[in-house]
Amino acid sequence: MIDSDKNSDKRLPEIIIIDLGSQYTQLIARVLREIGYRSAILTQERAKQWLLVHNPKAIILSGGHASVNDLNAPQIPEEIWKKQVPILGICYGMQYIVKYFGGEVLNTQGKAEYGPTTIQIRESELFVGLEENQDVWASHGDTVESLPDGFEVIASTNVYENSAIANISKKIFAVQFHPEVVNSVNGITIFKNFVENIANCSKNWKPQNIVEEIRDEMREKYADKKTIIGFSGGVDSSALTAVLAPVMSNNLLAICIDAGQFRDGEIDEIKETIELLGVNFDLIDKKNELENSLKGVINSQEKREIFRGIYKRAFDEAAFEFGAEIVAQGSLATDFIESGAIGGGEVIKTHHNINLGLEVIEIHPFRNLFKYEVRVLANEVGLSKKVSNREPFPGPGLILRIVGDSVTSDRLDIVRFADKMTRKILTKYDLLNIEIISQLVVYMLAGSPVVGVKGDSRVYDAPIVIRGLKTVDFMTGEGVQFPDNVRSEITLTLTKHPCISRVLFDETPKPPATTEPE
Ligand code: XMP
Repeated sequence: MIDSDKNSDKRLPEIIIIDLGSQYTQLIARVLREIGYRSAILTQERAKQWLLVHNPKAIILSGGHASVNDLNAPQIPEEIWKKQVPILGICYGMQYIVKYFGGEVLNTQGKAEYGPTTIQIRESELFVGLEENQDVWASHGDTVESLPDGFEVIASTNVYENSAIANISKKIFAVQFHPEVVNSVNGITIFKNFVENIANCSKNWKPQNIVEEIRDEMREKYADKKTIIGFSGGVDSSALTAVLAPVMSNNLLAICIDAGQFRDGEIDEIKETIELLGVNFDLIDKKNELENSLKGVINSQEKREIFRGIYKRAFDEAAFEFGAEIVAQGSLATDFIESGAIGGGEVIKTHHNINLGLEVIEIHPFRNLFKYEVRVLANEVGLSKKVSNREPFPGPGLILRIVGDSVTSDRLDIVRFADKMTRKILTKYDLLNIEIISQLVVYMLAGSPVVGVKGDSRVYDAPIVIRGLKTVDFMTGEGVQFPDNVRSEITLTLTKHPCISRVLFDETPKPPATTEPE
């Protein structure tokens, strides 16, 4: 099913992606799904075994954070060169190709690129339909200094001659930038050219397949087993509940753990959605437990770990009471990538619902999907636009939005108020719309209080920060600049609260800033 290399023959992917450790590997598969192609992401070891029994029509080598000149640099199985099928190398994948065929890759300061850049393309099958100048996203320290025999340059930037190369007779293409990242504006055309025109792959994937595949697998493996699903009212857990409900019926129990992390009115919305889905539901109150455990805790990873501990215990207890053998979670590819659980990248954040080590089996049917795919799927299974367009909200919720000092119920109430009022104002101006603001993050710099004056008294309050992020995949994004009048209205409204005397606006893009402040 979703783990595509476990597909039965009719669903066999024609494209394999060899994961060489990039944060963006899953995005390659996402873009391919968007254009109708199923692919399998394989580790180097699994790729080797796969290639012994299967004949893919196209091979993509992902990027990676290592240098090809490192002693322990990820290696690509020899079998790929024997298949004589089109190959596309991306970033590390390109450098590996160059080194393998006898070219030179060096760490050349001055040619490194981190972020947006513009390439000038030459005529190539890979770039059919594109204009000469293309905005792309690159992130590399090493550069290709000399090409192997048989390769030619097909794109360059102002500072870097070898931005994309090709060996036409071998049908090997390689790009130093990341066409899979949305900031590479026409990256999707590059993939289309590669899989459709160069590799002649057949379209074999539709969004409905996900729902069918998950339901089939649940039916086969788990339908007679009691299952608990973590339900936060967000699009991921709502969509997964809607996918599982018809298969699992009374064997499914949705639980929501309220540890004080929710925004204003969210619990009511959760109850409303669950009622519509007609699934058994339990609201578990852990507010006191969380507040006691978080006393004096400042470090954000520690806050996450504590939340995770409470979350895990609540699941184990609920599973025991319900007699469940399975716990299903709506975690997405981004959660796994940032937790370091897939992609071979570094741990950026420990997510509250990944690899919890529960006493029962944990399953994550959406582990290879990205947010916007789950939104499409949510519509498919009949959820309202209000749910399918819901902005993401982290599991530990407002706990992550009290920065630099400990979390108390008073501080949670202040952030909850600021979040509620900011949302009201943005809704009034029709700005709280995922096309404009994909996620609104209202947070408190609890560890950095500043002086203010209220009435005639000096006050010393933690600033409240408002951050809107516009993004498609939450891997990269732009900080939204609110109109002046909206900013003023937010500032005036929030500072009416007795404990808010300063409001700041955070417009930093991701990267370097993450969406959440902690
Ligand atoms: P960042 O802050 O890494 O966030 O840009 C990307 C997306 O993930 C959400 N996020 C989390 N979700 N537990 C979650 O369930 C977490 O610890 C966590 N940290 C970040 C974030 O809100 C955004 O949508």
